[in-house]
Amino acid sequence: MADRPYTILSCGISIDGYLDAATPERLVLSNDDDLRRVDAVRADVDAILVGAETVRHDNPRLLVRDARLRECRRARGLGEHPMKVTVTRGGRLDPTASFFSTGDCEKVVYCERGGVAAARAHLGSVATVVDGGAPVDIRSLTEDLRRRGVRRLMVEGGGQIHTQFLTAGLADELHLVVAPFFVGDPRAHRFVGAGAFPWHPGHRAHLAETRQMGDVVLLRYAFAAAEAS
Ligand SMILES: NC(=O)c1ccc[n+]([C@@H]2O[C@H](COP(=O)([O-])OP(=O)(O)OC[C@H]3O[C@@H](n4cnc5c(N)ncnc54)[C@H](OP(=O)(O)O)[C@@H]3O)[C@@H](O)[C@H]2O)c1
Repeated sequence: MADRPYTILSCGISIDGYLDAATPERLVLSNDDDLRRVDAVRADVDAILVGAETVRHDNPRLLVRDARLRECRRARGLGEHPMKVTVTRGGRLDPTASFFSTGDCEKVVYCERGGVAAARAHLGSVATVVDGGAPVDIRSLTEDLRRRGVRRLMVEGGGQIHTQFLTAGLADELHLVVAPFFVGDPRAHRFVGAGAFPWHPGHRAHLAETRQMGDVVLLRYAFAAAEAS
């Protein structure tokens, strides 16, 4: 058995590489075609992971929207929606957030050890709160997910989370969708922060696919394929 799930990182960015616009409102980077594509990727994984800041800022539901895709999952003996997973140091998450309140699926919160007792007290009725260690190590987290039956994992941001998966060499694919505008605000979050990435000018990643969907473009990088070559 592989020790961690096959992992797909997925996000939308502006032309200048921002994930959001530093405003309270969620920035729309996607379009309908891309939302359908993301829905199909979601329907094909066992779990979807986002960082706690994304839960707080975007209040995402992280569900499979298309009824036919949910029906296909049922036909495969799966639940309608993948497990939802988040990570937090302090456990400052609202139990009424859509992450917890929508979808008949398991919700798992990996919390840094010092915050576990408090997190269990206010999230324990809506999620499984797991002691993720001190600090939470993302590789150990993925190994724990594998032990919980997660063979395919989709990671939907934000920037802190993408940075950790990429620098730790835990991403097998990256689905990057570029929207046709600039944000131009340094207060906004970049797709990744600083770090030692395995993919650099001397070690190029494998671009497996480009796909235009209306005015956005998907760049699909297959890291595992580049590693093998
Ligand atoms: N364009 C897109 O596709 C897309 C997708 C997702 C998100 N976003 C945007 O990205 C922004 C959020 O990105 P972000 O980088 O600020 O945050 P993030 O990656 O979503 O979450 C960061 C938070 O996750 C927790 N965390 C991260 N690593 C951890 C670790 N090793 N151990 C324990 N906890 C850990 C911490 O939570 P605590 O603070 O609770 O301790 C941290 O503050 C939002 O504005 C959102 O709109 C965009």
